[in-house]
Amino acid sequence: MGKKTLSIILLFVIIFSLAGCGVEKTAGESKGFIGISMPTKSSERWVKDGENMKQMFEELGYQTDLQYAEDIIENQTAQIENMITKGVDVLVIAPIDDRSGLSSVLERANKRGIKVISYDRLIQHSKYVDYYATFDNFKVGVLQGTYIEEKLNLKEEEGPFNIEIFAGSPDDNNAYFFFDGAMSILMPYIDSGKLVVQSGQTKFQQGATLRWDGALAQSRMDNLLSAYYSSERVDAVLSPYDGISIGVISSLRGVGYGSEDQPMPVITGQDAELASIKSIINERQTQTVFKDTRELAKKAVEMASALLNGEQAEVNDTETYHNGEKVVPAYLLKPVSVDKTNYDSVLVDSGYYTEEQLGQ
Ligand code: GAL
Repeated sequence: MGKKTLSIILLFVIIFSLAGCGVEKTAGESKGFIGISMPTKSSERWVKDGENMKQMFEELGYQTDLQYAEDIIENQTAQIENMITKGVDVLVIAPIDDRSGLSSVLERANKRGIKVISYDRLIQHSKYVDYYATFDNFKVGVLQGTYIEEKLNLKEEEGPFNIEIFAGSPDDNNAYFFFDGAMSILMPYIDSGKLVVQSGQTKFQQGATLRWDGALAQSRMDNLLSAYYSSERVDAVLSPYDGISIGVISSLRGVGYGSEDQPMPVITGQDAELASIKSIINERQTQTVFKDTRELAKKAVEMASALLNGEQAEVNDTETYHNGEKVVPAYLLKPVSVDKTNYDSVLVDSGYYTEEQLGQ
């Protein structure tokens, strides 16, 4: 055999063995295909959620398709449609608008045998939601309300103290749980007059913030300050989410809060986003609620694996989350209140943030 023939044979051997490896690799390694549909990249938490899940799924040998919809409902529907066409086995969805007619796309998914996990937010009006991975959302609100109660020492002090109330997005089921949880603590003080809402806006709809938009919250706070606080001081602001807190803080700073004569009110939040932890360290925002996105991602991954293996996933709530069609079996993780006194032990010691990220 000539040298040339030998090299050609060798070349074929290499090409075929490589191709063989390739086939074996995909068939052997991919245990399933997971479509991950997240609402937006504009909030850091969803970026972490998406990345954590992608990494965990891939480490276990699943293939993933991770998409962000930039808070545009039509984008999310189109991205999910696309995932169905690509042949995913499981969809993990954090809906932008949980009442937005994902039901028809989920019906199509169901016809193809695709399983669905509702992630953090509950998908409404569809019977094709297999599991719900979330936090104890009522408890989140209780932690915010209790923080205000303790910081203002409402049990002992006579008051009255002024408070303004913000709520989350009216198209997000979670927002009502946060609000109800917080108001379960604060409402008795409002009723007794120890807490005064100068604007009188104590209803969910009056404080609601579409798409959790910080700029909207800022302009509402601007209006409240100019209409009701020219001679009164704001002592506390119930904010359900860090992005809203940031908007409220800008507004307050705009009229001079945050100085020695006019200290910041107590301001709550949620998600322990980096900007808010820095703000807490700098004594602008007072508190946030940490929901470990690594734990939530882990739950979603466990649920998906169970579904693909024909097993039951572990749940701890089979009563609370009725989506209009069925009670979706849920796993509720525990939220943790964080302020300047414990951010180090909760967030840095657990490796969620490094000291460098916090600029310490
Ligand atoms: C909620 C979620 C919160 C917060 C908010 C705004 O659904 O539970 O943690 O992230 O959306 O993104």
